[in-house]
Amino acid sequence: MATWLITNAATRDGSSVDIAIENGTISRLEDGGSIDPSVAPADQRYDADGRLVTPTLTEPHLHLDATLTAGEPSWNESGTLAEGIDIWSKRKQSLEADDVKARAEQAIEWLAANGVTRIRTHADTTEESLTGVQALLELRETVADLVDLQVVAFPQDGIFTDELHEDLLREALEMGVDVVGGIPHNEHTREDGTASIELAMDLAESYELPVDLHIDETDDPGSRFTEVLASEAIKRGIGDRVTASHVTAMHSYPNSYAAKVISLLAESGVSVITNPPDNSVLQGRYDDYPRRRGHTRIDELRDANVTVGIGHDSVMDPWYHYGRADPLDAAFILLHYAHMNGRSDVGPLWDLLTDANADIFGVDEYGLSVGQEGSLVVYDSPDPFNVLRTRAPRTLVLKKGREIARTEPTTTTVIRNNGERSVDFHR
Ligand code: FE2
Repeated sequence: MATWLITNAATRDGSSVDIAIENGTISRLEDGGSIDPSVAPADQRYDADGRLVTPTLTEPHLHLDATLTAGEPSWNESGTLAEGIDIWSKRKQSLEADDVKARAEQAIEWLAANGVTRIRTHADTTEESLTGVQALLELRETVADLVDLQVVAFPQDGIFTDELHEDLLREALEMGVDVVGGIPHNEHTREDGTASIELAMDLAESYELPVDLHIDETDDPGSRFTEVLASEAIKRGIGDRVTASHVTAMHSYPNSYAAKVISLLAESGVSVITNPPDNSVLQGRYDDYPRRRGHTRIDELRDANVTVGIGHDSVMDPWYHYGRADPLDAAFILLHYAHMNGRSDVGPLWDLLTDANADIFGVDEYGLSVGQEGSLVVYDSPDPFNVLRTRAPRTLVLKKGREIARTEPTTTTVIRNNGERSVDFHR
């Protein structure tokens, strides 16, 4: 007996399929309408009626310790990364475990309802009590029914900017975080930034953990730490577990230098995460007109076979006030300001959201075929283009064969002089 049966679902390539799940994995995947419904209990059958189905999504870059604090104690009116860090430095003085857990859990429930079952969150290690780190590590167990949570030890204010920070980073590693973080462009000097990368890589090797650094998150074309990270990854042979997050300075590099860095990234196997919601508003703040846009070179990186993922970064915090924890919103913002609005860009955008994000998270087996994990999401729209266009609600989310979220499609009625009729935004 299957535990779940989804019938008449549309795949990304437009095929109609039935999918049966047994013992947490996909046990059958056949043409739509061909699997006898009685293979699953009546309350565990779902007629997708032509809606799109994909494996569940991965959110590779969040800050759940800061989520849902927008406006506390003030709003970021300059819009800069620096004011965001300053506001957070005040807010984090009053962190309490229950406060962090309640906000993070709220955001995680939103993410699960939006089809996400894997999350990588950064946790600030430059707050002396490490309350946020401890709270998120405890939450990692509490929310395991919804998501697999990875916690990054993230020295927000820099490692060498205060004599306590290196010890705090090491303490977080001893507490059991999943990933080593860093922020070389926020160190005081070029030399300290380079040393912070070397330290993060040393720690990753000794603790056998992945590395995910906030790196070159600035408009300054002189910020050149990604080359150091890629070079270190090549020397140590660990590029497949190293991620460069943000890399917005690459937008402003001279083309010849950008080509060199992209080539190094490709050689190293280091992945890149772009974070459109935050960087669309944080960057360009020191520019007169014309104002640069703050995102990395997605097209050139992908052309060089660098894995590029897409993160939301912030949900209602000092760096990005908006957000409803939906990866499709991040993709929708990106497609505008990265000029990825062509019909031929739809596939690559979904590749970022699905395969690339799962790869960065470290998922070995990911996809829609027999034997894969029975973690699926059904969207209230029939194809990848319309799902992105409308950020269609996720009508059903399964994690390893267990229903974790369901959304009933809404009905909208337009009242005309000659009568009423319902309209559907999603088809
Ligand atoms: Fe970030």
